[in-house]
Amino acid sequence: MNMEIIGIDEKLCVSCGSCINVCIGDVFKEQDGITSVTAPSQCLLCGHCKAICPEDAINFLGLNPDEFEPMPPKEDIPLPEKLQTFFRSRRSIRIFKKMSVEREKLEKVIEAGRFAPTGGNRQPVEYSVADTPEILGTILDTTVKTLVAMAIKTNETVAEIEKQNKALSAKQRIGQFYAKRWLQIGEMHKKKIDGLFYHAPALIITHVNPAMSVAPGVDAGIAGAQMILLAETLGLGTCFCGFLVLAIEANPELKNILKIPPGNKTQFTFMAGYPDITFKRLVARNPAGVTWL
Ligand SMILES: Cc1cc2nc3c(=O)[nH]c(=O)nc-3n(C[C@H](O)[C@H](O)[C@H](O)COP(=O)(O)O)c2cc1C
Ligand code: SF4
Ligand code: SF4
Repeated sequence: MNMEIIGIDEKLCVSCGSCINVCIGDVFKEQDGITSVTAPSQCLLCGHCKAICPEDAINFLGLNPDEFEPMPPKEDIPLPEKLQTFFRSRRSIRIFKKMSVEREKLEKVIEAGRFAPTGGNRQPVEYSVADTPEILGTILDTTVKTLVAMAIKTNETVAEIEKQNKALSAKQRIGQFYAKRWLQIGEMHKKKIDGLFYHAPALIITHVNPAMSVAPGVDAGIAGAQMILLAETLGLGTCFCGFLVLAIEANPELKNILKIPPGNKTQFTFMAGYPDITFKRLVARNPAGVTWL
């Protein structure tokens, strides 16, 4: 990054030192009562300095100044009980109304991913979105074909191991379990029943260039959590689809259809649509495995 990308408006700066305190990049220095940018190449563009500056004296070329809106009052932040209840009210949705999802809503869902924190603020998560019956049909056909081929291969491997009277590894047993499901999905597909995307009207696929991220799975996972929760507030239901991730990584044809660069690694995918089901109780889970130290 060069000097012009971040700057301090000297006329506004009161040299309070807040930006120096908050910056993890050691980008600013104070000398003789004047604060200035001395190491711009160390800037992560995290925006903490601008968000803390009492005089709004800091400017970036790389960030949209309109997004630095004032922090809302504390009362506007949900109470912990309400937020926890909201988290617990989200369920995977596998029954959707035959209604398309407005693009504006899908854009808002993607915005929730865009604002998520990422390692080193690298913001590496990219999105492919399918929301027309034509492209969804093509993705479904190709994914089912891929999963059925994977199932046949898995079953051949398992048969070979069993022929040799050897025990299956835990991974192979899981593979055997999935293979059965993939073949079922294949049979359903022949009858025009979508056992993979559940006839959802929209599909979001995320991918990351591994060279751009220090922790692709974590970065994408946080974005995913924010996205599915924002979707809930828009009246949408979602369901992650790990089988699609496996299929994309196994078949370059799918990467091509989804316009995912060949070097990018698929992270998570999820279906979205208007739920045609209403749950009446919150989620229950196993106790957390916590070690207090
Ligand atoms: C996977 C991951 C790893 C991170 N590791 C560190 C870290 O080791 N040290 C640190 O100070 N911040 C770390 N962060 C915080 C990021 O630098 C921060 O989220 C990013 O700069 C955006 O700033 P924000 O969280 O204030 O929006 C990490 C964030 C993520 C998602
Ligand atoms: S936080 Fe703002 S006012 Fe304070 S030293 Fe930094 S630029 Fe100047
Ligand atoms: S954007 Fe973040 S890293 Fe860059 S100067 Fe401001 S506080 Fe430091």
